[in-house]
Amino acid sequence: MNPTPSLPDLAAKAAQLDAEDPLAAYRERFAGSPGLVAYLDGNSLGRPLKATRDRLAGFVDEVWAARLIRAWDEGWMDAPTELGDTIGRVCLGAAAGQTVVADSTTVLLYKLARAAAGARPGRAEIVADTENFPTDRFVLEGIAAERGLTIRWITPDPALGVRPDDVAAVVSERTALVLVSHVAFKSAYIADLPAITRIAHDAGALVLWDLCHSVGAVPVELDAHGVDLAVGCTYKYLNGGPGAPAFGYVARGLQDELRQPVQGWMGAADPFAMGPAYEPAAGIRRFISGTPPVVGMLPMRDMLELIDEAGMAAVRAKSVALTEFVVEAADEHLVPLGVRVASPRDAAVRGGHVMLEHPAFREVTARLWQRGVVPDFRPPAGMRLGLSPLSTSFTEVADGLALVAAELRAHG
Ligand SMILES: Cc1ncc(COP(=O)(O)O)c(C=O)c1O
Repeated sequence: MNPTPSLPDLAAKAAQLDAEDPLAAYRERFAGSPGLVAYLDGNSLGRPLKATRDRLAGFVDEVWAARLIRAWDEGWMDAPTELGDTIGRVCLGAAAGQTVVADSTTVLLYKLARAAAGARPGRAEIVADTENFPTDRFVLEGIAAERGLTIRWITPDPALGVRPDDVAAVVSERTALVLVSHVAFKSAYIADLPAITRIAHDAGALVLWDLCHSVGAVPVELDAHGVDLAVGCTYKYLNGGPGAPAFGYVARGLQDELRQPVQGWMGAADPFAMGPAYEPAAGIRRFISGTPPVVGMLPMRDMLELIDEAGMAAVRAKSVALTEFVVEAADEHLVPLGVRVASPRDAAVRGGHVMLEHPAFREVTARLWQRGVVPDFRPPAGMRLGLSPLSTSFTEVADGLALVAAELRAHG
């Protein structure tokens, strides 16, 4: 194998940024990964914390074995709403009683979108965009087929994302629901959440925000901006581990009005009454369907503690510094090799990742994985660099980018 290449000026700048980084010490709290040079995919799967190893090991003996089924009454039953409240407080600007942890994002998205469509009878349109993540589009297509609705598709500029004017042009008195991702999964464009929410409301529609690429990286203020509904992943910037459950937010004023479609016993008013008919629980609990994923809820607690300690404002500041570093380095070292920066250049509208494009990136990404540099590839030609603020150093990014440049050169 070739020796690890370096770009000396970039490495020097990275070392200086690391020395000045007030959050640098947090990196030590993550478990090591053998052979890893640069992890640039924290927006797909966050790294585990060392504390999570102890938490999981302790859970087996101290909680599961020690308390067995009694533990349902000693915290497990309340975990979806208690953990939801923590996510709401630390990351979402959401007061208690509005956020719940359950299901996968796909399933929770279905439940909330379907409930929203049902709450606006007589309105036969849903507004969505062609650049949104596949699950968001597919789920809406399923709901539209199920309920005889029409989707009004916005086709945004792929280098950006959905803008308020795009939404204003298609919403009307026929719109039941507007669904937008806050941070676009490819470009990282940050949609104008307050303005789009206002436009949807002015048309009498509900709005559902996909926060998968925001939560834990880009602060949001759901209560302050009157958001109706939101969903998001916990295995990205909340480091909940593979397949960790999703979270859903339903504004308090809407909760009793909405009827979610997967009516299970755990969202019923009294699960253990085992009664003949479904009566939804009051409040946010009604959005639960089945038995809470207790084990899957454990790891994210460690990351939430870290983010709470650091503060979302500081996390966002580091996130901006990291993406700024990548954009500047790409301009200097990768653009001359034919790379295009496909994320916004203005950090104010750029989330926690940076998309670069080059026709050779599919092969280059495969080579990089072999060499311990782990970004992800998004077709047709995108290399997505996800920079999880508390686990990523500037030096790591510089090392990764040096290998990207070396592989591009080797590829010719
Ligand atoms: C923007 C967005 N929405 C939804 C999902 C789907 O989440 P899940 O696979 O957990 O259902 C993802 C997954 O990466 C995503 O990035």
